[in-house]
Amino acid sequence: KEFKDKVAVITGAASGIGQGLAERCAREGMKVVLGDIEETALFQAQKELQASGAKVLAVRTDVSKASDVEALAQKTLDTFGAAHLLFNNAGIAAGSTIWESTLADWEWIIGVNLWGVIHGLRTFVPIMLAQDTEGHIVNTASVAGLTTGHSPYSVTKHAVVALSEQLYHSLAHLNAKVKASVLCPGFVKTRIMDSERNRPVELQNETARPLTPEEEAIVQYVRQGVQAGMSPQQAADHVFQAIREERFYIFTHPEYNAAVQMRMEDILQGRNPSNPFQS
Ligand code: NAI
Repeated sequence: KEFKDKVAVITGAASGIGQGLAERCAREGMKVVLGDIEETALFQAQKELQASGAKVLAVRTDVSKASDVEALAQKTLDTFGAAHLLFNNAGIAAGSTIWESTLADWEWIIGVNLWGVIHGLRTFVPIMLAQDTEGHIVNTASVAGLTTGHSPYSVTKHAVVALSEQLYHSLAHLNAKVKASVLCPGFVKTRIMDSERNRPVELQNETARPLTPEEEAIVQYVRQGVQAGMSPQQAADHVFQAIREERFYIFTHPEYNAAVQMRMEDILQGRNPSNPFQS
């Protein structure tokens, strides 16, 4: 595949996996469009990429807002005239159990993790199809989108896997030159556990409730996992390999295959859900 001089659009591009993808796109000689809600980090990331010689457009974007994503697409077309790679990657972690997560937690996480991907697809797919050029869309889900989950995060990631599979079928049905993949990483060393930095004021929780010991244990487990996780550069390498191979499922952490298999077998054999954290 030829990436040079093509246009890549990346949401959540100012940090972590999105930043790793942006750097990789720039190294491939692509024109890069960075969308992110965190303005300071966004323009810093733009400066760093430009210093490497890349052509970079940065657009402050809240992916949970359709109008912001539409503006991102318009600015992309105005500046670079096309969009060839789309990474619907922005995401946050929030909430606890289904019933103890607040309405604000649910609205925030569904807004960013699910609506963000929906807005990205509704806005960019028609543009990419109309171009009639080769293209690829990668939605960032998680292994949490494939295993039995414990939080609103997992609910949104299962939805992103479902959306992505449907996207794959719809594009295949059209015999489109645009392909699709879903990225399902395990732990990657990013700022995901500092997601609260981007929670909008209108979705703040009014009272902070102390975590229960079980919740605290899960947070510690995830924090340590993220801290010891794969580098965003390595994750980006997996993604580019999959794009080249036109591979839909992008698994970066084979050590979670057993947990995915366990869920699938629970379903097929009519067993009650196993706890993936007890294996
Ligand atoms: P990160 O926190 O380092 O980067 C996420 C980026 O998204 C940040 O730059 C943030 O400002 C941006 N963002 C947050 N809300 C936004 C909004 N409303 N609109 C636009 N941008 C917004 O975290 P990370 O880990 O790089 O997250 C990227 C994706 O990877 C997320 O979808 C996350 O769920 C997923 N993921 C991360 C894993 C990990 O272990 N770090 C594992 C599996 C999936």
